[in-house]
Amino acid sequence: MAHIQTEKSEGVLRIEFNRPEKKNAITAAMYQGLADALLDAQSDEEVRVVFVHGKPEAFTAGNDLQDFIADPPQDESHPVFAFLCALRDFRKPIVAAVSGPAVGIGTTMLLHCDLVYAAPEAKFALPFVNLALCPEAGSSYLLPRLAGYARAAELLLLGEPFSAAHAHEIGLINAIVPLEQLIAVGAAAARKLAQKPPASVQATKALMRASLMAGIDSAMAAENRVFRERLVSAEAKEAFSAFLEKRTPDFNKFS
Ligand code: COA
Repeated sequence: MAHIQTEKSEGVLRIEFNRPEKKNAITAAMYQGLADALLDAQSDEEVRVVFVHGKPEAFTAGNDLQDFIADPPQDESHPVFAFLCALRDFRKPIVAAVSGPAVGIGTTMLLHCDLVYAAPEAKFALPFVNLALCPEAGSSYLLPRLAGYARAAELLLLGEPFSAAHAHEIGLINAIVPLEQLIAVGAAAARKLAQKPPASVQATKALMRASLMAGIDSAMAAENRVFRERLVSAEAKEAFSAFLEKRTPDFNKFS
């Protein structure tokens, strides 16, 4: 599909967000494209590594809010959940290169990647509470373990954007790379991984994630339930209307 572009070369499936006019905000169709790409990559023996990136101006602005308002995901069959499950269960390594905004799922998906590089100007954000939503992709479980509770609470409750330097400090990314070298560095790391013994690489990833999987599963199940409730809440309606009307939301009326 036009908004999710893929290309296979030298054992690497490259997945590119390609909707720059909307800062690569992810629609339901794009989630399905991403889920399908990961499922195909899982069963395709020629693919040993996935490399995901956006455009210089944006990794992704996260869920497309207009899409969420028009068609809020209300059951597990929605493409957003198909993508989250495919990402959680993906057994091959994922390399990510981030430039520009990485909002919401643009940041939480990185918790499931294996090597992450970011440009100095990259801006991460977890604005779920500001949108009257809740964390997703297992981030309520993974982020406190990665960053410590205090820093995770700051990022998830205040929801303010944070820099590549902070992302590096909390261990969310491996390295900060100048923008003009970012894609080349990410692609080179992906190719390097693709040349290693694939069964050994996958076993190593599985061993590292084994002790986390039960926690990720139960966090994702709980998050998905709460997220669906939050999406149709009056608080979320106010937050989404404010985004569309380009104004500050007013949550004073809620008890
Ligand atoms: N959903 C739908 N449209 C989005 C979007 C999103 N998540 N993020 C950006 N867009 C659209 C904007 O509405 C704008 O559309 P328009 O040109 O038709 O008005 C276009 O993309 C460009 O965005 P803009 O806000 O002008 O770019 P910016 O560089 O000033 O800011 C962001 C970039 C990502 C910081 C800002 O767009 C933003 O905060 N987006 C919302 C992120 C968000 O809350 N995501 C959901 C997480 S759960």
